[in-house]
This record gives sequence, C-alpha cells and structure tokens, in this order.
Amino acid sequence: MNLRDAIAGTAAAVLMHPDARAYLGQSGAWGQAFMEYARWMSPIGMSPRQISGDCTVLGYDFKQNDRVFFMFGAANRDSSVFEVPDMYDLNRDTGPAIPFGAGPHFCAGAAASRVLIAEVALPQLFAGFPDLELTEAVRWGGWAFRGPLSVQVRRGG
Ligand code: HEM
Repeated sequence: MNLRDAIAGTAAAVLMHPDARAYLGQSGAWGQAFMEYARWMSPIGMSPRQISGDCTVLGYDFKQNDRVFFMFGAANRDSSVFEVPDMYDLNRDTGPAIPFGAGPHFCAGAAASRVLIAEVALPQLFAGFPDLELTEAVRWGGWAFRGPLSVQVRRGG
C-alpha cells in the first residue's frame, strides 16, 4: 500500500467535506479522519485466498483449492453494519471496519500508517496550508489498490 495515496486520499476526503474540515480544525481528530477514510475508500479493496479444504460458509459450498477473494471494500460499506455507508462521516464508529484485514494476516503496517498519516502528514499539511481548496472534483480509481487518481488544489485567497 502506497502511503502517498492514503495521505492524498484522506486530504481529499477532508477537503470535500467542509463540516469535517471545520471539526478537525477544532478537534485535531486526524486519527478518526484517517480511519474513516480507510473504511470509506478501502485503500486495499481485495485480497486472494485459496481454500484449504472443502467447507460451507454462509450456505455457499467451497472445494479444496478453490480461489476466492476477500472484498474488504464490500465489508467496509456493509449497510447492515454502517449507516449510510457511502458517506464519509467522522461521527461514525469505525471499529467494525476491516481496512487492514483481520486475523493472522492483519496488516503489519497498520500502526505505522496511522502514526505517519494521522500524527505527522495530515496535521502538517493542514497547518502549513490551512487555505487549501479543491479546484476540481476528485477522481477515484482502482479496487485492489484504490485511491485518488488526482487531487487538484490551490491556495485560497
Ligand atoms: C493505508 C495503508 C494500508 C492499508 C489500507 C493496508 C491494508 C492491508 C490489508 C487489508 C492487509 C491484509 C491482506 C490480506 O489479508 O491478505 C495488509 C497486510 C499487510 N500489510 Fe498493509 N496496509 C497499509 C499499509 C501498510 C504499510 C505501510 C506496510 C509496511 C510498512 C504494510 C505491510 C503489510 C504486510 C507485511 C502485510 C501482510 C501481513 C501478513 O500476511 O501476515 N501495510 N495490509
């Protein structure tokens, strides 16, 4: 996962949501801004697995050696878990989200990413350039690796 994409993506999400930006200006809750971005965008949207033995999960039968894909992006926007899941919302509980996976393959870089992005990159970016504004709609792309294709900004007047 390229941290550059997650930094640019979280910054874009904040710039797209003036309420979130105002709230962050007062609270400094950049950890929440990043974790909600990670839920909302799922920077790693999918990961493959090979079935080790015949089994049935949620009524679906799998055979040994079948190839399947974990869709982190689907879990992170599951409407039975998250209210209005397509919305970037700093008030929500991101606890049930799995943007860093789960279980034995849980992301080895999760804590480092959070520190670098939420405690260094984002606070410095918005402190150094408090007047940033988007000059065009952000374009998003990718699904195994997902993030902004470009974030065009200028310094406001
Ligand atoms: C926003 C940033 C990141 C996201 C969203 C992310 C997401 C993920 C996800 C979903 C997995 C699980 C894959 C699976 O179950 O197959 C994973 C695994 C992993 N990540 Fe990250 N990652 C990020 C940053 C990083 C960074 C910065 C590093 C290294 C410094 C890193 C190292 C790893 C490693 C080594 C694994 C494999 C762990 C294993 O299989 O035991 N990640 N990551």
